[in-house]
Amino acid sequence: PVLVVDYGAQYAQLIARRVRETQIYSEVVPHDTPVDEIVRRDPAAVVLSGGPASVYAEDAPRVDGRLFDTGIPVFGICYGFQAMTSALGGTVEHTGVSEYGRTDLSITGQGGALHEDLPGHHPVWMSHGDSVSKAPEGFTVTAGSRDTPVAAFEAPERGLAGVQYHPEVAHSPHGQEVLRRFLHDIAGIRPRWTTSSIVEDTVAAIREQVGDRRAICALSGGVDSAVAAALVQRAIGDQLTCVFVDHGLLRAGERAQVERDFVAATGVRLVVVDAVDRFLGELAGVADPEEKRKIVGREFIRTFEQAARDSQAEAGEAGEQVDFLVQGTLYPDVVESGGGSGASTIKSHHNVGGLPEDLQFGLVEPLRALFKDEVRRVGLELGLPETIVHRQPFPGPGLAIRIIGEVTAQRLETLRAADSIAREELTAAGLDRDIWQCPVVLLADVQSVGVQGDGRTYGHPVVLRPVSSEDAMTADWTRLPYEVLERVSTRITNEVPEINRVTVDVTSKPPGTIEWE
Ligand code: XMP
Repeated sequence: PVLVVDYGAQYAQLIARRVRETQIYSEVVPHDTPVDEIVRRDPAAVVLSGGPASVYAEDAPRVDGRLFDTGIPVFGICYGFQAMTSALGGTVEHTGVSEYGRTDLSITGQGGALHEDLPGHHPVWMSHGDSVSKAPEGFTVTAGSRDTPVAAFEAPERGLAGVQYHPEVAHSPHGQEVLRRFLHDIAGIRPRWTTSSIVEDTVAAIREQVGDRRAICALSGGVDSAVAAALVQRAIGDQLTCVFVDHGLLRAGERAQVERDFVAATGVRLVVVDAVDRFLGELAGVADPEEKRKIVGREFIRTFEQAARDSQAEAGEAGEQVDFLVQGTLYPDVVESGGGSGASTIKSHHNVGGLPEDLQFGLVEPLRALFKDEVRRVGLELGLPETIVHRQPFPGPGLAIRIIGEVTAQRLETLRAADSIAREELTAAGLDRDIWQCPVVLLADVQSVGVQGDGRTYGHPVVLRPVSSEDAMTADWTRLPYEVLERVSTRITNEVPEINRVTVDVTSKPPGTIEWE
């Protein structure tokens, strides 16, 4: 792999994604990974990421100079560029001038291997206080900016290069090309990380891990579990059983999507557990959001556990055993849990498919190395329908946390009808890719006076919560066109008798979370 050393900015994962976009596999490692460990992993190249520190600071993370004697190609970015400079005997200075944002890069001479043939002046994204004033011995300076004479250098014969700017962000329009040139031309890495190679390698690894034993997977209807299951199905066929728990908190059509479309696309062996009454029974009288989450999480595990036991019993009769549980863990979760960040739990997220404690399973996690966009591409490669592959996020506790107040069958029906209209109209307006998700929330304990069809009504409001986001950590409210809002509002108030008002939530996150509960 190409190892991206994380100096503590948010950029490391983005760099890893950009490396992969050049069809080369990459992973993020913490900055205190010892050189010996890096060498042991035999990387095709190392990229030193940006970071918030100054190389002058006492506790600044450093690059161990021995890295440059290993023969591994190294590319430094921003802070990594400066750390590389100091480790190799160049000079980094506090110039007192910082560059932040869009900056004009001017190419020196021919531009070297990294910048040759790119426009002599082009915009790049900068974000730094210190500057490199003298490149290390033996390096050619290939670009500068008004305030930074050394904005890029290289020693291609040694496989070393660096840039002061951030090539990984979209504000550096030639950045991806520069990264590609480092990896393909300077480091000489052959690109082979393609969607079909991902599928091929993953399928082989699953076969190797599972052998002729059996696996079970909980399908949630979401992208991750669907793609994970499809990969495992491709690898071991009928040795996989998928379980879909219908807890009655799903949106209109979701069960059918799994039962019909997913099965048609994959040929997976599916068990559908109808647990609607059980969940509604447990949720009766409960209005507290965290309480609802706990109940849904707990009942989900119990239901799934039972299905797993049944499947195990069946397999046992056939003299086999279910040994593996398939989970849709993604690469960012792996990095983040390894990174040990102290992020506080704002809501207790319920991971569908949580591991039942007293059932002994090995884990199969076919998406552990993948970013979300790669998961989607793999899904398409495996022939999953667009409706599943591009489905917007939907919380595990489902509509239970979109009914403010107690959850009842009647209220679920009302919300499902309103939600389905909103989704239909957003799709028809071609807005699915512009919005991250659009929860529709039923204020079940609020009533207001209206007039519908000549009569006074005393109905409930729904809230539309359209948001735009990159990763759900922060979000902005989406400026939906008025005509679309009008259609949604008219249709909901006409077609859903219990609802007499449609409102829009125009709060960003923070301070508002995406879901209302
Ligand atoms: P919030 O409301 O925290 O939501 O801004 C961020 C993202 O997470 C989803 N979400 C959940 N997903 N179980 C889940 O699987 C949960 O309990 C849960 N709560 C929120 C939410 O839809 C949004 O995409």
